[in-house]
This record gives sequence, C-alpha cells and structure tokens, in this order.
Amino acid sequence: MVITIDGPAGAGKSSVARKLASRLGFHFLDTGAMYRTVTHVAMQKGVDLGDSAAVETLAAALEIRLENDRVWADGCDVSVSIRTPEVTRNIRYVADIASVRQILNHKQRSLVVSNDYVTEGRDQGTEVFPDATCKIFLTASPEERARRRQRQLLANGQEIAVEQLLAEQNLRDAQDQNRDVGRLVAADDAITVSTDGMDEAQVVDKLESLVRAKL
Ligand code: C5P
Repeated sequence: MVITIDGPAGAGKSSVARKLASRLGFHFLDTGAMYRTVTHVAMQKGVDLGDSAAVETLAAALEIRLENDRVWADGCDVSVSIRTPEVTRNIRYVADIASVRQILNHKQRSLVVSNDYVTEGRDQGTEVFPDATCKIFLTASPEERARRRQRQLLANGQEIAVEQLLAEQNLRDAQDQNRDVGRLVAADDAITVSTDGMDEAQVVDKLESLVRAKL
C-alpha cells in the first residue's frame, strides 16, 4: 500500500509524513532527499550540473540508502550535507533532467514493492505512484510557509528575514511548478489539505483520518 504526500516547499510534508507513517505502521520515503543526494555528490565530485549526461551517469551508479532520518550515498553518511543552502539552490539542475527523474522514480518504485509506505515529494501521486491508495496534496499559504521556516531556522540559531525566505521560496515554487517533467501539481484524485492555522499534531490527525477512511 502506498500513501503519497506531495506539495510545495515548506508545507511541512516531511515531518507530517514521517509521523503519519509511524502511526500507520508504514515505512517513510523522503524523495527530496534523493534529489538532494544526487546534487550533493555531483557538486562534491565536480560534475558539471549543466551536463545532463554526466549527471545521469552519476545518478545511475549512485547507491542511495535512506534509513530512519539518515541518508547514505555509496556508504557515506550525507544526512547533514544534503541540507545546505548551496545544495538546495542547485537541485533544480538535477530535478529538471528527465532521465535522472526516471532513474530516481525507478529507485522509489523498487523500494516500496515489499512494504507499505508513506512517500513524500512533488510528483509522487502524479508520476511515480498513480495508483496510490490515498493521495494528499499538502499546502499552506506562501506567507505561512515562510514564517514556519523562519521559526525553524531561529530554533537552530539562524535569524533570516521572512521577506528573504519568502523570495527564495517563491523561486523554488516556480521552478518546481514549471519543469517539463515531474512538475509540482496536485493529482486529479488527490485530496488537497491546506494547513494554514493548523499545528503539526492537527495536520497529522487530519491526514490519519483521511487515510484510514480509504484503507
Ligand atoms: O522536499 P525537498 O525540499 O527536500 O526537495 C528538494 C527539491 O527536490 C524540490 O524543491 C524539488 O525541486 C526536488 N524534488 C523533486 N521531486 C521530488 C522530490 C523533490 O523534483 N519527488
């Protein structure tokens, strides 16, 4: 069984999907971490991100392992290094390459064959798992997402103006919504949940009841 959660950056998908998976006794798959890993390793190896064939070769050969909240690339723990602003800024080069998306889609599908999963990303309900048991499109207003991000960063000792975060977020949304393949869009049969004014526990409760109604 597969439950997909798609939506824009900062909608809280990862933490909500992780908690939902734990409540349902399902595994959790953070597909953004895969795009981050390919980007990070390409940057580390000095691969030209504009060279689609070189990035494709790297992605095809790379062994990505996701376990709990840790990520390994060819056996190296990259859990922290895939979350830097430099990686985030460069992901779009990797995520725009159709052949790289095919490779990662294949890795995602082969992971879920033997277990029940909650998967999270941008294209899970549309491209990767069109037959998912339940599809959620999780969103919130741009301002609310930027304010949440600001609070998260503050908790880690980083103070960044909400206007700057909003501008970066708008850019990422536009890139995610406008790519030729795997673009960010709600599947026709997805349930859209807007989380403005809800705290995380309320969102998890809401998703759990939506999913259980479909099981
Ligand atoms: O979810 P996260 O913010 O870690 O994803 C990072 C980026 O990876 C997204 O902005 C998007 O460009 C890309 N991505 C994607 N398809 C997915 C998951 C992430 O293109 N399924």
